[in-house]
Amino acid sequence: MQFRAVKGMNDILPDEVGRWQHVENTFRRTVELYGYAELRTPLLEQRELYVRSTGETSEIVEKQMFTLERGSEVLALRPEGTPSAARAYIGRSMHAQEPVTRWYYIGPMFRAEQPQRGRYRQFYQAGCELIGDGGPIVDAEMIDMLAELLRALGVTDVSACVNSLGGPASRARYRDALLAFLRPKAEALSDHAKKRLEDNPLRILDSKDPRDREAVKGAPSILDVLEPDDKAHFEGVCRALDALGTPYRVAPELVRGLDYYTRTVFELTSTMGELGSQNTLVAGGRYDNMLEELGGPKMPAIGFGMGLDRVLLASPQGPAERSPLCFIAPIGERAMLAALALARDLRRRGIRTELDGRGNSVKSMLRRADTLQARLCLLIGDTELEQGVIQLKDLRGHTQRQVPKDDAAEEVVRELAN
Ligand code: HAM
Repeated sequence: MQFRAVKGMNDILPDEVGRWQHVENTFRRTVELYGYAELRTPLLEQRELYVRSTGETSEIVEKQMFTLERGSEVLALRPEGTPSAARAYIGRSMHAQEPVTRWYYIGPMFRAEQPQRGRYRQFYQAGCELIGDGGPIVDAEMIDMLAELLRALGVTDVSACVNSLGGPASRARYRDALLAFLRPKAEALSDHAKKRLEDNPLRILDSKDPRDREAVKGAPSILDVLEPDDKAHFEGVCRALDALGTPYRVAPELVRGLDYYTRTVFELTSTMGELGSQNTLVAGGRYDNMLEELGGPKMPAIGFGMGLDRVLLASPQGPAERSPLCFIAPIGERAMLAALALARDLRRRGIRTELDGRGNSVKSMLRRADTLQARLCLLIGDTELEQGVIQLKDLRGHTQRQVPKDDAAEEVVRELAN
């Protein structure tokens, strides 16, 4: 029997990992400039945490969680990072330690979705959570940071959509207005939307079913029924984005699939990478009530999750950055032992070094050095070793010179610095 990876879960082999590291490093560098520090949380949480935060009526909790039972505990593989961050924040009483907390995380998330290009069951997110600042300025700063980040990653043709879902009072008003609009059309809705009509009618607005798309045409806009303080907050976000010159579109139809959002929600999409309907690279928003609902302090919060799988599909296929390689080809048994020590010396000096330990012919070793795209090759033979010298071959300039064995490491460092 041959084993296969689990459906929707992919291996990332070393020749692709360089691109992943580039994206992750660029993300870290960028968000750290904005004051975010890294948080690492377990991959498993109590299932109930997601029921209470992500929400009972969200697709994630309804259908997509990988759950497992152990003894009396029901656990779930994390489908997103925000609930874990909130749990850790509350558990450590962070609000008593600092007024504003800025955390970021990078790692795998799990959702049992139907796999397709840009949609997997184990996928990777890089996310930020900012807890303790409820003002509109940080919302605009976050959206602008994401535009900067995607630009740094070479992702072009990016559009940012922004909306406000208001607070509970605005939401209740909007729910009534939307129900009054949709109820007379209930028969024309998809079965899924008919069910949503009672438990979460806002979600019908972002249904992809053509029947629902038709039914919601001309629906009232939430922006028209926002309470004055929610309206002022949203105007503040737009004003700050205008001041920064960040391009964005106000999108009243943007509702997002997680139950915890309040006020600002946003998405960044790109037409790059042939992602079709999976072209949302980043999504996020405010969750000003979630911490309190989880038994913590009343603290406003905002965050986003960036889908790394999708960002990689949408970013240019540049070669991975790796430091230059020095290849060592020993010829003979004594040479092999000398090469082993020399390789260690080079690595101590920070040079990426690969030693050919197979005892093969010079020709085959040089072929291997070529395949690895080594910059330099050190040829060490038993007879030359007796004379205290080795051959230093520059594989880019196609030159070769003899160097004293004891100076070889120095010479390699000097060559690579050029
Ligand atoms: P989300 O919209 O569920 O939000 O996911 C954020 C991003 O993760 C998506 O826009 C997409 O790029 C990526 N993503 C989601 N599901 C998949 C999948 N199955 N395969 C590949 N990529 C996927 C959240 O997760 C929230 N925690 C974001 C947030 C943080 N809101 C506030 N703070």
